[in-house]
Parts: sequence; C-alpha cells; structure tokens
Amino acid sequence: MTAATLTARRSGPLRGRVRAPGDKSISHRALILGALAEGVTEIEGLLEGDDVKRTAAAMAAFGADVTCLGEGAWRVEGRGGFAEPADVIDCGNAGTGVRLIMGAAAGFDLSVTFTGDASLRSRPMNRVLKPLGEMGASWICRAGGRLPLTLRGGNLRRIAYRLPEPSAQVKSAVLLAGLRADGGAEMIEPEATRDHTERMLRGFGAQVDVSEDGAARRIVVPGGQKLRGTRIHVPGDPSSAAFPLVAALVTPGSEVTVQGMLLNATRIGLLETLGDMGADLSVTNIRDEGGESVGDVTARYSELSGVDVPPERAPSMIDEYPILAVAAAFAQGKTVMRGIGEMRVKESDRIALMAAGLAACGVGIEEEAEALTVVGAKGGNHRVEGGARVVTHGDHRIAMSHLVLGLSAETPVTVDEPGMIATSFPGFVDMMRGLGAGIGEAVEA
Ligand code: S3P
Repeated sequence: MTAATLTARRSGPLRGRVRAPGDKSISHRALILGALAEGVTEIEGLLEGDDVKRTAAAMAAFGADVTCLGEGAWRVEGRGGFAEPADVIDCGNAGTGVRLIMGAAAGFDLSVTFTGDASLRSRPMNRVLKPLGEMGASWICRAGGRLPLTLRGGNLRRIAYRLPEPSAQVKSAVLLAGLRADGGAEMIEPEATRDHTERMLRGFGAQVDVSEDGAARRIVVPGGQKLRGTRIHVPGDPSSAAFPLVAALVTPGSEVTVQGMLLNATRIGLLETLGDMGADLSVTNIRDEGGESVGDVTARYSELSGVDVPPERAPSMIDEYPILAVAAAFAQGKTVMRGIGEMRVKESDRIALMAAGLAACGVGIEEEAEALTVVGAKGGNHRVEGGARVVTHGDHRIAMSHLVLGLSAETPVTVDEPGMIATSFPGFVDMMRGLGAGIGEAVEA
C-alpha cells in the first residue's frame, strides 16, 4: 500500500505577505446561523476547508439553499428553521460543526442522525448532550456519548447552565438551542471562551445579553427568537496564521506578514505568549471588519526565551499549543504549559502527540496529565535534530506544527496523513512554499 507523506527541510529565510484563510469558527457559525435565519445571508471569505464544507452540506440537508458563488463567496437562504434531513449528517473531522449543529437542531421537532470520521467518532459528545438533555432533547448513541448518534429535538425548556469545561462549542450549542427554548438559555462561563456566537447572533438581529463578573461571563438568550439574514465578512483565522508566523520566528532571517488576521481578544493568547517569549511581532492596520477587530501581523526571526504560560490563558489559545510547543523547542530555556487538559480531547490527544513528535525530533519534553513542558534547544548548546517520521493520527494541527519544526531542524521531518491539513488550511503547503519553505510531497512504498 502506498501512503502519501509530506517532508519539511531546513529552509529560509522565509519572506512575504500572505492572507490567512477564513476563520474556521466564524465560517461554521455563518453557515449555521444563515440556515436558521429567514432570508438571505451573503458570506465573503468563508474558509473552504473540508470541515466547513461538511457544515455547508449539512445546512442544505436541513433545508437551506446553500450556494457557492465564487472563491470564499457563499449565499445561504434560510427557511427560518430546520427541516428533518432525509439522510445521516456526516460532519467529517469537525467537532465544532457537529456540536453546534446538534444545538441548533435540538430546537426543532425532528430526528437526525450524526456521524463523522474515526477521530470525531472517538470524541466526547456528552458535554453537549448533558445540557441539551436538561432542556428536553433526547438521543441514542454509542457508549460514552460517542457518534453515531440520533438526536430527537423539539419542545425545549429553559436552562441555566454553568459550563464545567471552558468550551465555546458547548456554550454555542446551548445558546443556539436556547433561541427556540421556552424561557431561553442562561450560561455562566467561569473563563471567557471565544465569543463569535454571541457577536454573530446580534448581527442576525437576536437579543443576547452579556455581563461580566471578573473573568466569568453570564450570557442570556431569550427564547422564541427569530434570526434575519445578513452579510458576513469572515476574517483571517489566527489559528492558521499561527503557522507562518511561528515559522518566521524560528527560521533565521525571516520576515512574514499575515494580513487581515482576526484580533478578537478571546483568540490571541498565542500572540501574547510569543510576545512574552521575546518575539519580534508587530500589528498594524488595525480595523473593524463586520464587528470583529482585524489587523496585519508581522513576525521577524527572533531569539526566543522559554516562559511559563499562565493557565488562565488556555481558552484564548487552546488550538495554538502545538505550534507554541514548536516555538518553545527553538527557544532558550523551558516553556511550561499548564491547565491544557482540553488538548487531550481535540482532533487527537494533542498533548500525547506533540510530546511524542517532539521527542522523536530530539526535543526534551515532560508530559503530565494536563501539562506539557518543552526544553528549548538554544543555550543548551544543542539543536533541534528533526529526522523523524511523525505520526499525526490525522490531526491537521499536529501535521502543520511538525512541518514548521522541520524548516529549522537539522534533518528533514516527515508527517503522515498530510491530506488532513485540508480540514482547516487547504492552501497551507502552497502558502508556505511561496514564502520560501522547503515542503515537499513524498510517496512511500
Ligand atoms: C471552537 C472551540 C474550541 C476549539 C475549536 C473551535 C469553536 O473547542 O478548540 O477548534 O469554534 O467554538 P472547544 O469549545 O471544545 O474548546
């Protein structure tokens, strides 16, 4: 059997200006809210990765008219609600897709069966099912709340729910269900998570009340609300921009600018952490686009120092720890990342896979249940060896992180299942090559 791989070789300097692909979180939400709304929603800059395309197909299956008008330009004509789909909804690799769609669908009198790829079928859905069950939804599923799962919605009642884990997906699912619940939904989140659902709901004409009490936030959505179609401009995804930016920071002589990157405070923990490490980063041209702050971010090669990442920063950079671990490998001293247990239930167990991949590349690591420590190569008079074939378990961010590592490692780094990068960043390899990165395809016997 032949398996395609990708290999990254020592390269650079990396130079250029690029645009990050559309934000994945906002892209899913734009399609789902567009389908729930009455009338037409026009979307620009939609991420056309596999995860989001699955959500687009799902919205069509629930009765919306979904059309691609050109690159990133999509039109969604909603029917003001969901109809029962005629077939199973396959969300592929997308946790955000399936969890938000479950919340949205729970408000309607229908039955729907969800499934996904092997990764998604292994991920916990109980965190969403528990509050939806309290609201009156019912389901049948595999052990441990695993997909495939059949959900029965309709006749929801009010919920007041305190998020046990900092999850924007769970928060969003409950808020979407709350729109249709008798009495609405009230959520307390002890730590603020990404707030795109709250912001976008307002753009669709819904009432969402948010109050803050220290780090905690209380979000109230009254029930029985209707959404009206709108226009949405999707900003560049900071979770994707992280890869070219960190690549520039660790590759000598580099200077890379990512234009139009989302700067929402709930998403930029990585920029703060890299700043703490001494990264030469600058943000210019800050502007408002469709209710979100965006800017152009420039990264120049930097001598980084290890840091202790404050655990309370985790929700604002939860998807960025894999690439932060790569930056940490090239720093001087240790970088300690605590309070990151949520990484174990992402597309893969990202603590375990980063620990294994970095160790295979000669990087010193210490793995704990909810923490990862990376021993930086600089200053210890040694280098990042590389030379490994990294097992990604089909996780796009594990693959991209190790390819970035390979650009400055002593010997090339190979990743398996590179096709999965297309779930979030279909143009990654071309963009990185355009900046001067030596990333090549290889076919193994
Ligand atoms: C997302 C929330 C996060 C994040 C995921 C996208 C979202 O997941 O990891 O990639 O769009 O709401 P959790 O809510 O499970 O933390």
